[in-house]
Amino acid sequence: KMYVAEPYKIKVVEPIRMTTRAQRQAALERAGHNTFLLDSRDVYIDLLTDSGTTAMSDRQWAGLMLGDEAYAGSRNFFHLLETVQEYYGFRYMVPTHQGRGAEHLLSRIAIKPGDYVPGNMYFTTTRAHQELAGATFRDVIIDEAHDPQADLPFKGNVDLRKFQALIEEVGAEKIPYICLAVTVNLAGGQPVSLQNIRDVSELAHRHGIRVMFDATRCVENAYLIKEREPGHAGRSVREILKEMMSYGDGCTMSGKKDCMVNIGGFLAMNDPELYQAATQLVVLYEGMPSYGGLAGRDMEAMALGIQESVDDDYIHHRIMQVRYLGDRLAAADVPIVRPVGGHAVFLDARQFLDHLPQDAFPAQMLAAQIYLQSGVRSMERGIVSAGRDREGQNHHPNLELVRLTVPRRVYTYAHMDVVADSITDLYEDRRRIPGLTMVYEPKVLRFFTARFEPL
Ligand code: F0G
Repeated sequence: KMYVAEPYKIKVVEPIRMTTRAQRQAALERAGHNTFLLDSRDVYIDLLTDSGTTAMSDRQWAGLMLGDEAYAGSRNFFHLLETVQEYYGFRYMVPTHQGRGAEHLLSRIAIKPGDYVPGNMYFTTTRAHQELAGATFRDVIIDEAHDPQADLPFKGNVDLRKFQALIEEVGAEKIPYICLAVTVNLAGGQPVSLQNIRDVSELAHRHGIRVMFDATRCVENAYLIKEREPGHAGRSVREILKEMMSYGDGCTMSGKKDCMVNIGGFLAMNDPELYQAATQLVVLYEGMPSYGGLAGRDMEAMALGIQESVDDDYIHHRIMQVRYLGDRLAAADVPIVRPVGGHAVFLDARQFLDHLPQDAFPAQMLAAQIYLQSGVRSMERGIVSAGRDREGQNHHPNLELVRLTVPRRVYTYAHMDVVADSITDLYEDRRRIPGLTMVYEPKVLRFFTARFEPL
């Protein structure tokens, strides 16, 4: 496989600590077999998440020095606002401390108890905020998205018949907006086609339903449109991104991913009334509408990150590096979700540990074993992450996955080789891996702090 050489060079390095297997065994026990509870100093290659883990550029670090830390009307706010207007096309923007801050505001403003919010699969915090505001979440993604082996170019697409059926079932007045994620994280970082975005927008708007993007990884989605959707190969990612967003009414954004910063997010919209409502709520939960929980310097770094994120050479390298890891694992017959998505390679833990039932938490155990094997940290995205429904029953998601998430501009191809080799070794030895039992379960978003013991 060919490398796509990095379109950047290294100016600062951060040494990482190597550990022994005995040290990792002790760390794993302290962490209750939950990779979220490991200390970073015990981790060699950290693929827990691509969130907030980006290496900022020299330009962004320089931008931090331009922070205008005024309580109100910071010039960095205006820079960020202009950047959002220029690159995403939305008229209004409220900064938030991160994506879920924006999800909280949107859910509180737009949802009435008893409403329904359709989405192309769920994200943990997104659905939790919708449910806290009194809505019922409905998954309207295409069926194939729940099948790890279905190899489709746009596996994040909305099934328009499911969306239409929900409108007929509950009535459009009970659907304040559709949450359209680009890309779909839990489906494997799968993109939505421009055609599907257009169709969703047309159907939603015909019924007076808003289209609110979860734009968290929208640049990766734009790249995959350029690569896969006929007629877009010659366009810039920047141009495709702007067209994508033009079909929506606003977005929530976790700046910690495609805006290339370590902290930050925003809620953007075109409707002045929605904006007005957001400015009222943001002061209660985040801060003034011109900083929303961020320092001036953070807003500056995010404005610059947005500009860098649509650089065609950057995003090409980014996607190819993730795909390289996936291709190496697939070549060794390790079961992964197909096709490889934008930000991560997802291991199919159901197949990897096919001797374990889902109630023995195979993905949770696989993540623990990968750490033990090589110090590589990954994340469970299966039955633990899916949590319980309103009646207290465990959701049993079809997808029982371990996510190997690649931070932006942080690791090299050599690191990807280490990851692929160690997981391949583990795969040869998989039959000896036992299941887990949950010994501590928090009430909300349990995956963050739950603890487990081997069976
Ligand atoms: N939406 C998606 C699709 C996400 O992946 C995330 C975060 C959020 C919203 C929430 O944003 O973390 O800034 O509050 N995903 C991280 C992850 C945590 O590891 O996938 P946040």
